[in-house]
Amino acid sequence: MANVVVVGAQWGDEGKGKIVDWLSERADVIARFQGGHNAGHTLVIDGEVYKLHALPSGVVRGGKLSVIGNGVVLDPWHLVSEIETLRAQGVEISPETLMIAENTPLILPIHGELDRARESQNSVAKIGTTGRGIGPAYEDKVGRRVVRVADLADPATLELRVDRALIHHDALRRGLGLESVDREALLASLAEVAPAILEYAAPVWKVMTEARKAGKRILFEGAQGALLDIDFGTYPFVTSSNVIAGQAATGVGVGPGTIDFVLGIVKAYTTRVGEGPFPTELHDDDGQRLGERGHEFGTTTGRKRRCGWFDACLVRQTCATSGVNGISLTKLDVLDGFERLKICVGYELDGETLDYLPTAADQQARCTPVYEEMPGWSESTEGARSWADLPANAIKYVRRVEELIDCPVALLSTSPEREDTILVRDPFAD
Ligand code: GDP
Ligand code: IMO
Ligand code: MG
Repeated sequence: MANVVVVGAQWGDEGKGKIVDWLSERADVIARFQGGHNAGHTLVIDGEVYKLHALPSGVVRGGKLSVIGNGVVLDPWHLVSEIETLRAQGVEISPETLMIAENTPLILPIHGELDRARESQNSVAKIGTTGRGIGPAYEDKVGRRVVRVADLADPATLELRVDRALIHHDALRRGLGLESVDREALLASLAEVAPAILEYAAPVWKVMTEARKAGKRILFEGAQGALLDIDFGTYPFVTSSNVIAGQAATGVGVGPGTIDFVLGIVKAYTTRVGEGPFPTELHDDDGQRLGERGHEFGTTTGRKRRCGWFDACLVRQTCATSGVNGISLTKLDVLDGFERLKICVGYELDGETLDYLPTAADQQARCTPVYEEMPGWSESTEGARSWADLPANAIKYVRRVEELIDCPVALLSTSPEREDTILVRDPFAD
């Protein structure tokens, strides 16, 4: 029985949600292990669109166990409203199908306020965050002053936790010119939301261990992408969690040996939302065309995504840091009709050629891409469901990508629809 980790191999929005949904048919448990509702995962099933932020993409399929692990930061009010939205779309969610780790840190309104205040007050420090309090909540987790799911069960503990957080936050808020926190209102609002969260609370590490022993298949669902990783991303223009595959084990409480196959989700070109370096970014008609054909607007914030050519150099690097065994190449159809396609194979920096993105921010910003050109294809690949349906030049493009990133293709995606997916090598069969 193989357990599979799905991770984004670029700057997020690679199409992880679609692939997790597709793969979840083969899985018993689907677990989120990092990030929060900064994620936006869109699924399209028979024309119906589902947008998931905090919930694992497995909930839509029904009959599976969806898990929110301790590596996630959870906004309880957001979760309640996301559950309501999905229920209104006919998705069944109950304590039998959803579990939340008791040791999951909570995102409070003060985290969102701090996130947005920092972003608006200091243009030098602007990251272009989703404004959802992700960074401040992780800071409080590491600072040992966060409120966790289990704390909601006991009013006395909850008060202690809130007071511990407020000593820090009120000092910070004074410096930023924000009003001090209304302690009573915060406690009342936590008490109100507590029952709706506690009904899903469980010792997830134990549930996962038992699932493994029972031979259940686990699908770990990553959010964001490796270049937004707190350690290996384009720091400081990153998110505040480890998003690479190693985090999957820590983020739910299982050993690293649990992971049998790492599937990297890779868009056939590159996009990024927010600030930060992006060597292959295009500001011309090609970039605009990628954005229009790919409908590149953020699922979470509605922001326009920056677009550029495929960067094989970066994806080779992210496949290495996540130990990717195979990729799922998505949005190949968006490249239909381009006469010529460019792939970045390295960078030029100060007269030297590099085969990886350097760590220093000033160097990252100065790297210029070295391109290889390939002929495009005029035929449509949209909705293709087998290799045989792909034009020869599209196959050449895919093969060249595999060579350059040093990793084979396991799945290919040719439209937003669940079934428009080509299976090349089953990750669960490994
Ligand atoms: P995620 O954050 O990695 O789950 O990706 P998003 O859902 O934010 O963004 C991917 C977008 O592309 C979504 O709107 C998907 O419906 C869509 N999508 C996924 N795969 C394909 C594909 O193969 N072709 C096209 N045209 N769209 C796709
Ligand atoms: P999915 O799971 C794309 C980006 C933000 C910003 C940076 C920090 O849909 O791929 P944060 O709010 O996390 O502190 O913002 O990270 N970002 C994403 N970009 N896809 C995502 O998630 C993202 N989640 C965060 O735009 O640049
Ligand atoms: Mg997304």
